[in-house]
Amino acid sequence: MQSAPVSKYRPFPPVALPNRQWPNRTLTHAPIWCSVDLRDGNQALAQPMSVDEKLEYFDLLVKVGFKEIEIGFPSASQIEFDFCRRLIEEKRIPDDVAIQVLCQCREDLIARSCAALAGAKHIIFHLYNSTSPAQRQHVFNASRADVVAIATRGTAWVKQHTATLAAAGTHVRFEYSPESFTSTELDFALEICEAVTDVWQPTVENKIILNLPATVEYATPNVHADQIEWMSTHLTRRDRTFISLHTHNDRGTGIAATELALLAGADRVEGTLFGNGERTGNLDLVTVALNFYTQGIHPGLDFSDINHVRDVYERCTKLEVPPRQPYAGELVFTAFSGSHQDAIKKSWAVQKSGAPWDVIYIPIDPADLGRSYKAIIRINSQSGKGGVAYVLENAFGFQLPKLMHKEIGKLINDRADAKGTELSADEINAIFRREYLEQADAPVVLQHFKTTERDSAVMCEAAMTFSGVVHALTGTGNGPIAAFVRALAATQLPKFDVLHYSEHSLGSGAEARAVSYIQIKTERGLTLYGAGIDTNIELASIKAIVSALNRALAK
Ligand code: KIV
Ligand code: ZN
Repeated sequence: MQSAPVSKYRPFPPVALPNRQWPNRTLTHAPIWCSVDLRDGNQALAQPMSVDEKLEYFDLLVKVGFKEIEIGFPSASQIEFDFCRRLIEEKRIPDDVAIQVLCQCREDLIARSCAALAGAKHIIFHLYNSTSPAQRQHVFNASRADVVAIATRGTAWVKQHTATLAAAGTHVRFEYSPESFTSTELDFALEICEAVTDVWQPTVENKIILNLPATVEYATPNVHADQIEWMSTHLTRRDRTFISLHTHNDRGTGIAATELALLAGADRVEGTLFGNGERTGNLDLVTVALNFYTQGIHPGLDFSDINHVRDVYERCTKLEVPPRQPYAGELVFTAFSGSHQDAIKKSWAVQKSGAPWDVIYIPIDPADLGRSYKAIIRINSQSGKGGVAYVLENAFGFQLPKLMHKEIGKLINDRADAKGTELSADEINAIFRREYLEQADAPVVLQHFKTTERDSAVMCEAAMTFSGVVHALTGTGNGPIAAFVRALAATQLPKFDVLHYSEHSLGSGAEARAVSYIQIKTERGLTLYGAGIDTNIELASIKAIVSALNRALAK
């Protein structure tokens, strides 16, 4: 990098718009969406999609709900031409969907595009030429007047050649893009858009689409919004115009630029799924659409099976959706931090169905996108006790008492630390079972347990193996637990008091079992939990005591 002061780059000049309105507005409705995945997105792929992949992708876009789909540049190659023909001839385009084709301002290319479009019900003919001073001077060596003439001549040819399509029943719409609009002087962008509109002669019923691209993103989103508001307020036939946005993402603010420009008056948005496109990509339509949704505005696009959308996208483009991609990324509904897990668990527990969504750290219900709750918490050494308890309860049905959360949380965190990676829900379950329920190498084993009641007292008989010998024990108490604790007190095993007991059923119906959690405190001051499972609730608690005792002996 150049050392300061930086003279190599210039700040983007602000727009003179003292009375700008957009900062005081809010978004109230979704824009018209146009997918350019099959053109702008496809052009940017190292390995462009095959025709079969494009067909699959087109079907996906239709399923998601796009009503305007740019399908390519049919005059640019035979593959693009054939793809357009297949869509039309195989009747793959629903009646309410318009296909859009891109074309330069050359008569032969315009004629060829119209040949590709023959028989289509609804089309948008998208014409463009470059308008920025850098393009005019360095690439085309053309004056402003020359560039206006290119655009108006092109528009006249489109009008002429699409007339045949219209006569044959095609509903024709027209889009014009002053390419590199955001780097073009605003007065010149207006001049060329007005000139094109003069030629096309739009109506209120069939508006012209003026697409104002940020072909390369150079400025902050507020400057983009100013540019759009300036155009929106200076166009003479605003009632006959749809202002369309087409942001790229060179500064990483394409989404913000689009959202602010919608406040500034734009009607329509072009972009791609997950932001595929040249360099840093086009606008990510999924994020913008779902941003609307989380403000209580239906975007008119359906991402209720977002994993499927992602799968098709990844298969066809051979690109991967990054794990942190908003809404669709693998990790976006996963909390690793313990305090976050705890907040999620608590706020989710009080989230009422039908009430406004208010789960902390999770801005959208994953179920709305077809994603599962279970994936939300994964455990690593940074996770807290709440997260572990959440996994054991939600995935395996164990409702651990609150006091036990800390104990099991530490145990799991130590294992995650030792492993150096996160633990899956199954691994957490296995550790819990091994530590509390199975205790394969435990020194104390319960062989047999039976109680009898006499008057209001309970008498127990137990057979237990410890120190390699089977011991027959008896004890009396006001319940089975008290009787068993008394029986154990008469042995050489550590003495303890029971501090806390809880139980619940696991599963339901004939298969239901009871699970007990018992906290003990040994005479040496050690406090720990044991857990036991059995179809017999009494036996579940006796097993929990043996589990706690074995854990005390292990320490
Ligand atoms: O980014 C761009 O300017 C384009 C135009 C062709 C609309 O893709
Ligand atoms: Zn583009």
